[in-house]
Amino acid sequence: MSDSSSGKKLRSQAWFGRQDKMGFYYRSFLKNGGTPQDQFEGKPVIGICNTWSELTPCNAHFRDIAQHVRYGVLEAGGYPLEFPVSSLGEVTMRPTAMLYRNLAAMDVEEAVRAHPLDGVVLLMGCDKTTPALLMGAASADLPTIGVSGGPQLNGHYHGRTIGSGTNIISMSEQLRAGEITLEEFHEAESAMNRSSGHCMTMGTASTMASMVEALGIGLPGNAAIPASDARRNELARMAGRRIVQMVRDDLTMSRILVREAFENAIRTLAAIGGSTNAVVHLLAIAGRVGVPLTLDDFDRLGREVHCLVDLMPSGRFLMEDFYYAGGLPAVLRSLGEQGLLNRDAPTVNGRTMWENVRNAPCWNADVITPFQAPFKPDAGIAILRGNLCPDGAVIKPSAASPELMRHTGRAVVFETVEEMRAAVNDEALDIDASCIMVLKNCGPKGYPGMAEVGNMPLPAKLLRQGVRDMVRISDARMSGTAYGTVVLHVAPEATVGGPLALVRNGDTITLDVDKRLLHLHVSDEELAERRASWVPPTPHAERGYVKMYLDHVLQADRGADLDFLVGCSGAPVPRDNH
Ligand code: FES
Ligand code: MG
Repeated sequence: MSDSSSGKKLRSQAWFGRQDKMGFYYRSFLKNGGTPQDQFEGKPVIGICNTWSELTPCNAHFRDIAQHVRYGVLEAGGYPLEFPVSSLGEVTMRPTAMLYRNLAAMDVEEAVRAHPLDGVVLLMGCDKTTPALLMGAASADLPTIGVSGGPQLNGHYHGRTIGSGTNIISMSEQLRAGEITLEEFHEAESAMNRSSGHCMTMGTASTMASMVEALGIGLPGNAAIPASDARRNELARMAGRRIVQMVRDDLTMSRILVREAFENAIRTLAAIGGSTNAVVHLLAIAGRVGVPLTLDDFDRLGREVHCLVDLMPSGRFLMEDFYYAGGLPAVLRSLGEQGLLNRDAPTVNGRTMWENVRNAPCWNADVITPFQAPFKPDAGIAILRGNLCPDGAVIKPSAASPELMRHTGRAVVFETVEEMRAAVNDEALDIDASCIMVLKNCGPKGYPGMAEVGNMPLPAKLLRQGVRDMVRISDARMSGTAYGTVVLHVAPEATVGGPLALVRNGDTITLDVDKRLLHLHVSDEELAERRASWVPPTPHAERGYVKMYLDHVLQADRGADLDFLVGCSGAPVPRDNH
């Protein structure tokens, strides 16, 4: 049986539309919750893919959001079924939630494919849940809408606003420098994360929620409505209504996530001064839908774009302020007026990107600055090349110190994160503010999971001298809430024998962001000699998921997906289960 308003047979009818033993089986157990027979007779079945978990505090309100999606699905004549998938809590998962992004993506892909679903609403929030769900769902390619959980309200402490992540770094530095007491430190913890939602700086979660909107895979407004604002629930309800029609129109993910959508996302990333993590995630998502995307696209497309929003970690304000100022639609409109938006890119509400944002108002030009007087000019993520990073490295100019963007210095090298943590508090460490801190073995295979440790803490003795930034280089990532002149994602990583593995204390390194250069002043002959005596580190695991991850993870320049997960298999499952 087909859904009455379209000619196409619903996928779910291969389960529920059967009048035989298997039809009885598929329907009967779902009736144990009180589901009437008519729910199985041609209504689009909508999966509400939920990353709720108390271990992911940023997503702890998702049962409520799922309820609002459910109302919308019912209102539009669909049959909603909520299901859980792996959740990835950035705060508590060790060694890093990123290690499990691909595992969660596998979970999502297989859950979507294996079940009688016609469309999916993805509930995403804390950093890695967004890329994991988009990646997994893209490989199954049903009609899909992303709904983000929304940022927390502004943090308030001693009469000023504080931002999640960003002020953790600055306050822990103040504590180490003896400028605040332990009691004040604890008080700030309570003052910072005081409502439901994810980090309310323009960290990775807010960046990825913005990417959902810029890609057109979420509804307008998705990026910035606070989690505790009633309009977040309204957006979830509208997504529930809309996904039912998307099923009727067969508007699959691959029809939304086209090349033009990724170009819009990359330019938006520059305009919001978004997290460097989005580079890895967008590359991985593009790999799932078969859109060719490279690191150089980020540099080329981001170059003409100014950072328009004055948000932490680069600036002053927070996501709540961003929403009241007009949110992402105002930024997208500004890009469109400059010819920096693919106006015809499709979006999940059935309208083009430009139709959605052409009249978007800006209510506060301090928060969302005009393109002609931007918060920071030419602030797209820069892709560095050179003998230290043959496959690229990433730096976020909007979070860096202008005076360090062109800098040559002596390398102070740490082979492991443990060595670095011990050394930064060692008064005997031979380092000054002009040195370049180099951290190895923190990439995809090295950590493992490419942890957010690239923004190394500055040496305690330099902090006391008032030093607040230094050039830092690693194969790690950094938190989207962090800042500094930090070169990240060096590829290939040290653990697989990238040139980063060969850097030694006392070497000279040049960073020149204008020239997109990262150069190690050591001759090719000397590097070849060092390589001959280089011993690869022992792998982290001999069994289990981590073993599989180590055997198959791609380097950062390819999105750190698992090699066999790249691509899309669609959703057909021809066989019955009994
Ligand atoms: Fe969850 Fe920042 S810790 S979004
Ligand atoms: Mg993080």
